[in-house]
Amino acid sequence: MTDYSNFTVSIHYDRRLYRHDITGSIAHARMLSKQGIISEEDAGLIIDGLGKVRQEILEDKFPWDASLEDLHMNIESRLHTLIGPAAGRLHTGRSRNDQVSLDMRLYTKEVLKETVQGLRATQRSLVGLASRYQNVIMPGYTHLQRAQPVLFAHHMLAYFQMFQRDIDRFRDCYRRTDVLPLGSGALAGVTYPTDREHLAQELGFREISANSMDAVSDRDFLLDYLAAAATCMMHMSRISEEIVLWSSREFQFIRLSEEFTTGSSIMPQKRNPDFAELSRGKTGRVYGDLMGLLTVMKGLPLTYNRDLQEDKEGFFDAVDTLLATLQVYPDMLKGLTLDEDRVSSLAGESFMLATDLADYLVDKGMPFREAYGVVKELCRHCETQGQELQDLTMDEYHRFSASFDQDVYSITAESSAAARDNPGGTAPNRVADELGRAKELLESTANDL
Ligand code: ARG
Repeated sequence: MTDYSNFTVSIHYDRRLYRHDITGSIAHARMLSKQGIISEEDAGLIIDGLGKVRQEILEDKFPWDASLEDLHMNIESRLHTLIGPAAGRLHTGRSRNDQVSLDMRLYTKEVLKETVQGLRATQRSLVGLASRYQNVIMPGYTHLQRAQPVLFAHHMLAYFQMFQRDIDRFRDCYRRTDVLPLGSGALAGVTYPTDREHLAQELGFREISANSMDAVSDRDFLLDYLAAAATCMMHMSRISEEIVLWSSREFQFIRLSEEFTTGSSIMPQKRNPDFAELSRGKTGRVYGDLMGLLTVMKGLPLTYNRDLQEDKEGFFDAVDTLLATLQVYPDMLKGLTLDEDRVSSLAGESFMLATDLADYLVDKGMPFREAYGVVKELCRHCETQGQELQDLTMDEYHRFSASFDQDVYSITAESSAAARDNPGGTAPNRVADELGRAKELLESTANDL
């Protein structure tokens, strides 16, 4: 006979929630005894027994049994073996439905803290790079075409902003996760005089859920995390793509430290940016995890349905992927070196200064559109002649417009960057302000969880 029981088993992945499950059970037992629902003596036995169970799991001595299906049944059954009939009182006024939701919320609150710490560390490395190369000018791109000179620090701080928004999203997620579901029972509430406010306090929740039916079937908090994680990985993927490009022979902007590259098994000259590539690639699985859970949730009638057990593997995968990426990134960024000479010489190439040349003519009184046309002609001329704009003589300039003067030769990458002196612009003083604000943000803990 075929054994179908494996199909419903979740113990091989939900056992990662054992600490949270035990913490929840201990608080529940304490509350039951405080309320006179079970005796102090039984509560004492239960709490000691749960402590032993925790120790056994920690020491890898726990007899996991797949025939008991999930974590909750494994722990309860072991408790029974350890303390006898008192174990049977633990599940008073509780269901696995509110229990598993509690476990997932406790777990999510914990990983949210780690996630924000990882993002902070990444931001710290970005600020470190921005400070190390604070005034180095590099080509800024649009359409992956060289566009205008920018400060390397400005480029790094662009990612700082993305990760700042990610932190905001995770903080938001934390607020919605920080709600106690325990006390909802199977779906309708419980018949015992439990004290949910006390439980919330004991377990460190900001508030208790308002509707038992919602509480046992809600997984929005996981979706919030997954959505924020997907966006965060998208940012990771973007910076990874730049690292891949910049470390190529074609760009030669940066060099990665040895630790974060690997050689090719057949091409001895290669230093592949595998860590950046894998971060980019792993983004796909986090998107998949989000889509997976959205699809599990779609069309579920109230309240608990066993489908909800399918929330875990994808969620854990997303958490593991994001945390692993956030562990690699701070150090990979720290170990990166910028080829200052190369990026600044490219930033000084004259076509990068075309916009500045147009702005120059505007400054001399020409309407912008007209100036744009003049410079476009100039660039076309230089391109066909194989010349740089700076190579043109004054006479040649005058063939395109009489407004050109000797001071046209003083347009450089430095003057170009310095001219973008408005809030959010790349002028060195603006970037210095921005860097200062970023450092302040990192010093204050107001943004952390
Ligand atoms: N393993 C289950 C889950 O993860 C626990 C809750 C089971 N509840 C039930 N009524 N069968 O969702």
